[in-house]
Amino acid sequence: CGITGYIGMNDAKEVLLKGLEKLEYRGYDSAGIAVRNEDGIHIFKEKGRIADLRAEVDRDVVASVGIGHTRWATHGVPSKSNAHPHQSTSGRFTIVHNGVIENYSLLKQEFLNDIAFESDTDTEVIVQLIEKFSRDGLDAEAAFIKTLKLLIGSYAIAMLDTETPDTIFVAKNKSPLLVGVGDDFNVVASDAMAMIQVTDSFVELMDKEIVIVKKDSIVLKNLQGTIINRKPYVAEIDASDIEKGTYPHYMLKEIDEQPLVMRKIIQAYQDKQGNLEVAADITAAVREADRIYIVACGTSYHAGLVGKQFIETMAKVPVEVHVASEFVYNMPLLSEKPLFIFISQSGETADSRAVLVKIKEMGYKALTITNVPGSTLSREADYTLLLHAGPEIAVASTKAYTAQIAVLAILANVTAQSKAIKLNFDLIQELGIVANAMEVLCDSKEEFEKIASQYLPFTRNCFFIGRSLDYFVCLEGALKLKEISYIQAEGFAGGELKHGTIALIEEGTPVIALATQENVNWSIRGNVKEVAARGANPCIISMNGLDTDEDRFVLPEVHELLTPLISVVPLQLIAYYASIHRGCDVDKPRNLAKSVTVE
Ligand code: G6P
Repeated sequence: CGITGYIGMNDAKEVLLKGLEKLEYRGYDSAGIAVRNEDGIHIFKEKGRIADLRAEVDRDVVASVGIGHTRWATHGVPSKSNAHPHQSTSGRFTIVHNGVIENYSLLKQEFLNDIAFESDTDTEVIVQLIEKFSRDGLDAEAAFIKTLKLLIGSYAIAMLDTETPDTIFVAKNKSPLLVGVGDDFNVVASDAMAMIQVTDSFVELMDKEIVIVKKDSIVLKNLQGTIINRKPYVAEIDASDIEKGTYPHYMLKEIDEQPLVMRKIIQAYQDKQGNLEVAADITAAVREADRIYIVACGTSYHAGLVGKQFIETMAKVPVEVHVASEFVYNMPLLSEKPLFIFISQSGETADSRAVLVKIKEMGYKALTITNVPGSTLSREADYTLLLHAGPEIAVASTKAYTAQIAVLAILANVTAQSKAIKLNFDLIQELGIVANAMEVLCDSKEEFEKIASQYLPFTRNCFFIGRSLDYFVCLEGALKLKEISYIQAEGFAGGELKHGTIALIEEGTPVIALATQENVNWSIRGNVKEVAARGANPCIISMNGLDTDEDRFVLPEVHELLTPLISVVPLQLIAYYASIHRGCDVDKPRNLAKSVTVE
């Protein structure tokens, strides 16, 4: 979910709606805004996208303060009544909320038995509690704080009170929230991107802090009421980076940006002599660990699987890769000197953060690899490595995945050098070759469009097979396809399909096979034969030098360890065109959100 807030001299509606459009990647089930003027509070909400909300907003209502919300449903189905903002029964308090309140039904039972609720959300419990405590005699701020102290779970909140004019009350715990500072106005946003059009100066909020935001002041306090002084920072986001330009979709733009991102990464991780460089304390932490635990979700988890190979092959440190949501409740037996690496494009994913909080409590060190400087996972870890991929807006991750792999390769390479392990290749040169190869692939879009229309137009399912590094890319290729085209897609280790899933192969079932690894080239081709013998329609994507006449597409040659950086590009483009052919919403697929800030 995403939050916006505005208080100033101009019309709040437009700033709130524009901000919500920029936050739509965080969720788009339903959306709403509340603005306040001399006639009182006006709430507009709608199920669906921000565009649907825009159509609902009464243009004649002019107000200079307001709050907004775009939702990714957790408690309660996506609907107009469950959309935020939510109001207390008397209409005095109006709030928007991100996060999950774990004890909301207990609080409801204990304090709010006599209240008729309008929605099924945990959020309404918050606003009703604030009203109850204000009825008991507390002023708005005290009622707000008393309520926050009772909440167990995560929240980012913005609130209006009819009896405290020209003020937005803001609070945060575990869910991200920033206050943007302007001349004669201030804003609130889940992410700096939402408000970069109006200000680049932001104040970070820490957990269990509140802010009293007025047009010309912001007062930050902790829940004990102590005032906190914190200077704003400048968010370095280029407003043009978050526009689509001439591209029909962000996803296509972001796929095309991959060669450029590779070159930016090479530059960012080079010292003055032109050697690869990673901060010495980070390589020392990797070197000195007896085992590395990579923790991540979704696409970042898939990048972690590739990263394991790099770190083990180059730096010779054993690595385990874990899905964050499992790791937090089902922790493996840890080694004596572990180092944790969190991979997260957004740096906000709640599942990963839950693990970070836990391992920090246990006294372990953590490195975050993220695209967003200043994100929660970056702030709370001991070390950060940045992806330099620029804002990624499409929900399906593309350039962040390849950036994660490139940064992991650099980390492994520099650590190996610091251990005096001899590597027989120059990574800078090899990544340059990768960038050029990516360009060739981005210029071959028609080929991938043809593959999508030849193999995927009416299929119910699709399998991706590969061995070794190719297997990990198959997992990512399948994820891309299912996310945006809704074709049931699964990635398998080439040898594993025959142990069960081959039962699903029917006449014409598409099987996309990657063949970029010399030592398994013939065995993966054997697996292709097994599925073809049962009616599958195989599409082999191989690498130059390993190709045969039966291959559908041959990738330009790159270093064998770095093939995931290029073999994923066709899979991204095939998924993209499959989505287009099926008339799906490429950038905002159903049920998904880019940054999932709930566990
Ligand atoms: C969401 C997104 C995925 C992403 C995952 C992890 O589920 O839809 O595309 O891979 O979160 O996100 P992170 O920001 O932690 O990399």
